[in-house]
Amino acid sequence: ANGTAAASPNTFIVNSPNVSYTDTEIKSKYTYRTTSVETDSNGNLVATPKETQYDFKVDRKVPKVGMMLVGWGGNNGTTVTAGIIANRRNLVWETKEGPREANYYGSVVMASTMKLGTEAKTNKDVSIPFHNVLPMVHPNDLVIGGWDISKMNLAQAMDRAQVLEPTLKGLVKKEMTELVPLPSIYYPDFIAANQEDRADNVIEGTKACNAHVEKLRQDIRDFKTKNNLDKVIVMWTANTERYADVIPGVNDTADNLLKSIEQGHEEVSPSTVFAVACILENTPFINGSPQNTFVPGAIQLAEKHNAFIGGDDFKSGQTKMKSALVDFMISAGIKLTSIASYNHLGNNDGKNLSSQKQFRSKEISKSNVVDDMVEANSVLYKKGEHPDHCVVIKYMPAVADNKRALDEYYAEIFLGGHQTISLFNICEDSLLASPLIIDLVVLAEMMSRIQWKNSGSEGGYKNFHCVLSVLSYMLKAPLTPPGTPVVNALAKQRAALTNIFRACVGLEPESDMTLEHKLF
Ligand code: NAI
Repeated sequence: ANGTAAASPNTFIVNSPNVSYTDTEIKSKYTYRTTSVETDSNGNLVATPKETQYDFKVDRKVPKVGMMLVGWGGNNGTTVTAGIIANRRNLVWETKEGPREANYYGSVVMASTMKLGTEAKTNKDVSIPFHNVLPMVHPNDLVIGGWDISKMNLAQAMDRAQVLEPTLKGLVKKEMTELVPLPSIYYPDFIAANQEDRADNVIEGTKACNAHVEKLRQDIRDFKTKNNLDKVIVMWTANTERYADVIPGVNDTADNLLKSIEQGHEEVSPSTVFAVACILENTPFINGSPQNTFVPGAIQLAEKHNAFIGGDDFKSGQTKMKSALVDFMISAGIKLTSIASYNHLGNNDGKNLSSQKQFRSKEISKSNVVDDMVEANSVLYKKGEHPDHCVVIKYMPAVADNKRALDEYYAEIFLGGHQTISLFNICEDSLLASPLIIDLVVLAEMMSRIQWKNSGSEGGYKNFHCVLSVLSYMLKAPLTPPGTPVVNALAKQRAALTNIFRACVGLEPESDMTLEHKLF
């Protein structure tokens, strides 16, 4: 639709002296309004409105992008690949409930909308697809590749995953057969021992080394050249690894991490080696699993090379509900006192997580997700006070990818009463995670085409900080720039994403005040 003179309902231009368009760029001048708070000599809080002027610049040229998945032959890898092929070809397939057609449900970018404003004459809301807020890559245009320690082609791997309808599988089988993962690095100590029998596609060596970093860098370069790509984004959707010990002198600084890789230190995980390879190759790298891939040395290396990173752990089901529900309860003034979260699942992820060390990674990433909401409410919680929170995961092969998540939220209400909310969430896990992979790739790529600066500053435009905290909405344990706060509340994460993108085209933050309807 882009490129036509008359704006279709899906495209828009901003009519403002603060916004200008050229063939290659959108530039905006933006006033960021915040409130600065100080304590005066009497101990009172003094709140002062504050304005900061920023200049934003968006590169309008949508590049040709490759998405390389680590763990391509897994449930998520095969499902997202088949899903994109199905969308590209507008496939329709039979199910017992009638024909189903390809869609991008579950993707914020592709299936949600943003309120642009109110219609001039009628004051009715006008909403546009989120994908049209800025010139984003379309997922149908992503060239897909990647690595797996299992050498099955994607058609066989899709059968192994047991996620998609046989009729859909039949329609994409030919293309999927031609897709074969590149060999990957496998350090058996980091994933569960029960994964060993699928490791038949591995690069020689069971410890980190420079040769591994170089091989992965070469794989990225080759993929780029072969497919004529402008950019590649790499995503870890491989097995959950155990935590790596953070050891002074080993992985605490960028230099130490590089030295440890060179010397083959055994606390450097495969996912960290992938991260390092991507950082050195200036390729954005996002971690969809819970382990601490981004040890302090990896974050420092990314900062040094100005290379985008994001993580950790896809926020698809139970935790997404939690970060919406707990935000609601605590902002409603209800004192949540415990959360009991239980899961069972029967896919390979569940099998890997049945091993204690890998489960521990997941337990950590699932456990800290309410901290910011609790801390923000000093009426309900004393300093240091927390709701009890327990997470259980069990492997139940029979349910395959149809994960069950049961949650009980127990809360104290008015005058000592209690409220109990029980949730039972069932769905194909990979059908929730796949749209998140798409969103993370499309958004990370978009973020790499936005530059900004403080209007008053002498210097030129800069990138966003290399730790892309704006991806938090899709991630359970959001990685943020060192020393900056983590936001877990789902609505706030969505608002940050929406309003940053609005700022890039000179629009005010989405306000739900609707004053235009409220004057008597
Ligand atoms: P899966 O077990 O089906 O797929 C993982 C794939 O990674 C396997 O094919 C395995 O052979 C491969 N692999 C393992 N180590 C590798 C390495 N070093 N290099 C390359 N490939 C390697 O798991 P699934 O269901 O696709 O999930 C992937 C990850 O995403 C897991 O860590 C899981 O915890 C995480 N995740 C998944 C969610 C979901 O499915 N809803 C939600 C949140 C996180």
